[in-house]
Amino acid sequence: MAIKDIPLKERIILALDVDSPAKAKELVRRTESHLGFYKVGLQLFMAGWFETVDWLVDRGHKVMLDLKFFDIPETVKLAVAQIRNHGVSLATIHGNDAIIRAALEEKGDLRLLAVTVLTSFGEEDLRAMGMTQSIEDLVYFRARRALELGCDGVVSSGLEASRLRHDLGDRLLLVTPGIRPGANVLDRADDQTRIMTAGLAIANGADHVVVGRPIAKAEDPVAVIRGMQQDIDISLSRLSS
Ligand code: C5P
Repeated sequence: MAIKDIPLKERIILALDVDSPAKAKELVRRTESHLGFYKVGLQLFMAGWFETVDWLVDRGHKVMLDLKFFDIPETVKLAVAQIRNHGVSLATIHGNDAIIRAALEEKGDLRLLAVTVLTSFGEEDLRAMGMTQSIEDLVYFRARRALELGCDGVVSSGLEASRLRHDLGDRLLLVTPGIRPGANVLDRADDQTRIMTAGLAIANGADHVVVGRPIAKAEDPVAVIRGMQQDIDISLSRLSS
């Protein structure tokens, strides 16, 4: 596995899951000496539309816009066209072949990630939906297809990361949420199910980890960031030796 030239400051993507642009900006100001990549998701986007996105880009930060578009192909395509001129680096979509193809038509410089299976889902959720595949197989199948269609990468948990990296190669951009400090994979934390530490996710092949509550709700967010970055750095040096 080749180690990609991604600055340590950009390995963690901090999820700004707060209810106003003002709170998001406060969290960015507290953390930006150590971070350069932020995620705007549904809650914050509903609260302020592009305000935080544009502010982050103007400040020189990278932005992942995580709205997980899922609709008929034409609607997804037009939605992607709406976001591609805001300097966003990564955006997320769900979908079948037609939806992904339509989204790709309008992506411009934006890198598109397909969501495979949410990290809050466990095997029992798949069974409840009548699906017989394992999560790992479903994630793998969806990721391989997304890549074949031309997506830049996928979102998956750290548990599936090593198989994806091994079988789909270095071209895949792999972004991993469900990160918890010191997490044993059998733990559960908040509403997340498929969890692991930042260092292990990177060791398994993730390019970036997405972290929300463990940093945002910490008394000392910078201390948590530094701990995770040390963990990531150790994994990267092991991978390169
Ligand atoms: O607080 P926590 O670290 O669990 O936040 C994880 C973030 O990653 C949330 O913003 C969530 O929407 C996002 N996410 C996820 N699972 C995915 C895709 C995105 O948890 N498959």
